[in-house]
Amino acid sequence: MSAATGKKAVLQLDGKEIELPIYSGTLGPDVIDVKDVLAAGHFTFDPGFMATAACESKITFIDGNKGVLLHRGYPIDQLATKADYLETCYLLLNGELPTAEQKVEFDAKVRNHTMVHDQVSRFFNGFRRDAHPMAIMVGVVGALSAFYHNNLDIEDVNHREITAIRLIAKVPTLAAWSYKYTVGQPFVYPRNDLSYAENFLYMMFATPADRDYKVNPILAKAMDRIFTLHADHEQNASTSTVRLAGSTGANPYACIAAGISALWGPAHGGANEAVLKMLDEIGTVENVAGFMEKVKTKEVKLMGFGHRVYKNFDPRAKVMKETCDEVLGALGINDPQLALAMELERIALSDEYFIKRNLYPNVDFYSGIILKAIGIPTEMFTVIFALARTVGWISHWLEMHSGPYKIGRPRQLYTGEVQRDIQGR
Ligand code: CMC
Repeated sequence: MSAATGKKAVLQLDGKEIELPIYSGTLGPDVIDVKDVLAAGHFTFDPGFMATAACESKITFIDGNKGVLLHRGYPIDQLATKADYLETCYLLLNGELPTAEQKVEFDAKVRNHTMVHDQVSRFFNGFRRDAHPMAIMVGVVGALSAFYHNNLDIEDVNHREITAIRLIAKVPTLAAWSYKYTVGQPFVYPRNDLSYAENFLYMMFATPADRDYKVNPILAKAMDRIFTLHADHEQNASTSTVRLAGSTGANPYACIAAGISALWGPAHGGANEAVLKMLDEIGTVENVAGFMEKVKTKEVKLMGFGHRVYKNFDPRAKVMKETCDEVLGALGINDPQLALAMELERIALSDEYFIKRNLYPNVDFYSGIILKAIGIPTEMFTVIFALARTVGWISHWLEMHSGPYKIGRPRQLYTGEVQRDIQGR
């Protein structure tokens, strides 16, 4: 529980003074408890939740001014280079990195749940072949709620834990199948002798015709790192959506489907796909200056730039850029889109428009280039983000359900018609 500081904010309202308690966390700004404003007949107003802490959490901390991202206290660059994705999952879920024994046990548990009920595979046939894989993901992950509902008791800690494991294990299978379906290839079943990232790449790219398909270890390592860099990000739009949906007591698989929906937009997880589309549209380095003029006149946005919280740099982007260089170097790829991205970055970092607004490359600016090098099609980029973020969403859902919580119910500043009577009927 947060610590009361003894400090109070004093609000002058209608000639009266209201004292509002101030709480401290372990890191980050103190928060003002505004609940008593309600008793004084007022609401607080903060569209876009620019200054609102909607919950208390122990999972992830971000200092946007310093470019710091910590999961359970550990910096993201250390996790990306010294831990693998499943260890990061364990950390997010349990609060500590696993011991060697715990790691073996956890990895085995996840492996044990990689298959989906065969009926789930039938859902795919309902979609057109040209469906966006994120649309398929919203449907099929939501559909898991039909398979785990009657016997799922969200009040039971064991049921909650197995739900988290099932989601982490099954989402890669569904993600790979959402791709296979759109290219008309048969679904490839999970292989539990492979690591998490290898298994995902195997389900994406193996075919029954190529029985000896081997996953390139460089690509598997890069994929694992991309998963780690996207694992959690505090109370962003999709995580807040999962918490809000979860606060009603809804089925957790349906809550995760709600998170996937919120992630899809180009202002959030959809940005990685939008970055590659933007690079395609710009085409060559000569067109960069003209494109930047359009950005500055607000005709278009520079996708992969800017962040609600990071006003210095996005620490995930730094590791992502290093990974990008490593992967392209190891594969011997000389991607002209990388040169284009670097030119955009160079101009943006020295241009008054971007400097004044604290706009820096975010995680999505470089992830697309690596994903492209791995062979992932552009439409799957946001699906990869959803796969990796599932652990973050379910960790927040677990945290909320392991203590007292209230249904999320914001209020509004109503500016519509005042009460009136229907006339003439
Ligand atoms: N290109 C050009 N101008 C921008 C951009 C951009 N990418 N982002 C912000 N601005 C400008 C914006 O027009 C505004 O200018 P002004 O002060 O003159 O009105 C100013 O910067 C502040 O922007 P804002 O829209 O008020 O900032 P926000 O905190 O509401 O939005 C954002 C944050 C991420 C939605 C926004 O920066 C954006 O749309 N970026 C592009 C999409 C993107 O890359 N999203 C991925 C975010 S990281 C992955 C994730 O965690 O989801």
